[in-house]
Amino acid sequence: MTGPSDRVGAVVTGLGTCLPQTVVTNDEVSRHLDTDHAWIHRRTGIDRRRRVSASTGTGDLAVAAGAAALKSAGRDGCDLVLLATTTPDRRCPATAPWVASQLGLAAAAFDLSAVCSGFVYGLTVGASMITAGACDRALVIGADVYSSIVDPDDRTTAVVFGDGAGAVLLERGRTSDPGAVLHTELGSDGSGDELITIPPGGEHLTMQGRDVYTRAVTTMTESARSVAGKAGWDMADVDAFVGHQANIRILTSVAKRLGLPPERVVSNIADVGNTAAASIPLALADAAAQGRVAAGDRLLLTAFGGGLTWGSAAVVWSGAEPVQEVRA
Ligand code: UT7
Repeated sequence: MTGPSDRVGAVVTGLGTCLPQTVVTNDEVSRHLDTDHAWIHRRTGIDRRRRVSASTGTGDLAVAAGAAALKSAGRDGCDLVLLATTTPDRRCPATAPWVASQLGLAAAAFDLSAVCSGFVYGLTVGASMITAGACDRALVIGADVYSSIVDPDDRTTAVVFGDGAGAVLLERGRTSDPGAVLHTELGSDGSGDELITIPPGGEHLTMQGRDVYTRAVTTMTESARSVAGKAGWDMADVDAFVGHQANIRILTSVAKRLGLPPERVVSNIADVGNTAAASIPLALADAAAQGRVAAGDRLLLTAFGGGLTWGSAAVVWSGAEPVQEVRA
């Protein structure tokens, strides 16, 4: 007999990341901007971020993170490669088919654009396709090179964003299995599309930080609470809150509103900054590598970003060993 809590579903079996090796500290960012380490640390929780070299693009980071996730799962292939990114290598074609080919795969491959919510959107699409039988194994990659779209002279964005990639491998299993993606929930409000945008004809990202901040706190709280409810979890059941790493103060506020104690908040923003679509898998990999999340732990994922878009997921951690790569 299988009950409602044991059905066919998608299971996370591997976790991989890739960070550029170049570290840019707050002091370095402050050299040509009217800001300083103390302000950046206090207002965002960020101490340093990573930046790719000129010859490295989103696709390169995505390939390395994707290969790492496959290795983590002990698999050599999959039949879907889904790349969530705001910074594809070209406007056309999508970057995902190139990533798949570099991994030696003739898999279905496409990009997904949901800005900082991209990973949760990708997780939802990948898990849904597996559950529907449209694919058997899906590599969901979040990769972004914001250094290519951030204005180095804009102190409200230049201090915040970093480059990176993270990926999970999803496979068909049961919702009672470790690693199960139990529930996801997505939303958007396009009336706020100008709050985070590359204006028409422009090259650089602009962000109305204060407005985004306020909406992020409210929306992430509601969305996280809603998906936990769908999974039948009380907040006391949640072992780790893995939110999009936009600002430590946002994560702290959301956790407080949810009634989650600070020790359940996963954060690596101090070391990597806001890595957009890569943010959640990078934070999760750090927590897993440090033993802060263990097999069977209940993870509450939530993200908010440009679009405006948001999404949350209730995932039971599989205990997969993360594979963490570094590239130039
Ligand atoms: O990832 C996608 C979603 N993105 C987010 O969720 C980002 C959400 N927003 C934020 O994280 C924050 O709004 C920022 C970190 C972007 C900005 O921090 P804030 O505490 O909201 O600052 P603010 O924009 O309200 O500005 C406060 C003051 C202003 O000066 P005045 O007008 O009070 O004199 C700014 O000009 O801080 C100033 N300021 C800075 N000062 C030093 C803004 N950026 C800086 C800076 N260094 N880098």
